Amino acid sequence: MAKLGRPGPLMMPVHLTIEPTNACNLRCPVCETGNGSLSRAKGMLDPDVYRAFIDQVAPTTAVLMFYFMGEPFLNKHAYDMIHYARRKGIYVETCTNGDFVDAKGVIYSDVNEISFQIGGMTQATHEMYRVRGDLGRIQANLCEVLRLRAQVPESHVQVNVGFVVMRHNEHEIPDFLRWARSLGVDCANVIDPCVRTVAEGHALLPTDRKY
Ligand SMILES: C[S@@+](CC[C@H](N)C(=O)[O-])C[C@H]1O[C@@H](n2cnc3c(N)ncnc32)[C@H](O)[C@@H]1O
Repeated sequence: MAKLGRPGPLMMPVHLTIEPTNACNLRCPVCETGNGSLSRAKGMLDPDVYRAFIDQVAPTTAVLMFYFMGEPFLNKHAYDMIHYARRKGIYVETCTNGDFVDAKGVIYSDVNEISFQIGGMTQATHEMYRVRGDLGRIQANLCEVLRLRAQVPESHVQVNVGFVVMRHNEHEIPDFLRWARSLGVDCANVIDPCVRTVAEGHALLPTDRKY
């Protein structure tokens, strides 16, 4: 612990969030990245900067959340970056829209948890909020991760799937849960929607009050 009065953190972090990129392929209308209201310049995290940072924090860091406001797998070094943290004994979890996930990369990276996030059970409902997303491609990528995991005994990646529930897709929740169970994913989450304005609330919030 640093002495009080000196500049700098009091303690080293145990739980970290690192954003491999703040760019995203989707245009989700409520998300600051998707709707363009996030004013930070777009960029990719440099792998050398990342490794130097991980070297510094690894002695105290238990968990790394490997995503924030962008799509982590748009960074072409994402799998190597995760692998690097894993080799330092850090538990790594990530969250993705799934469009550009490479299943071999996921298994190689040794990521502990990956969550695929979808917006519907049909392409029409999915892309209503997950604008530009390709549901068939995401489902194929998810299935491929599950298939490879079953073939690689050393892989213990936990595979989760999330469904952002909104007015236009709330009727699909039973289908979503059946589908997730049939695939054998480890966890299926119905994600409470977030809106920022009353107008968005009227347009997007589910009518069923349990959501
Ligand atoms: C900002 S995204 C970044 C990860 C990834 N690029 C993606 O598109 O899912 C992080 C999370 O926000 C969720 N999300 C996006 N819009 C949302 C909303 N309006 N309400 C609740 N969750 C939302 C996504 O499903 C994802 O789990």
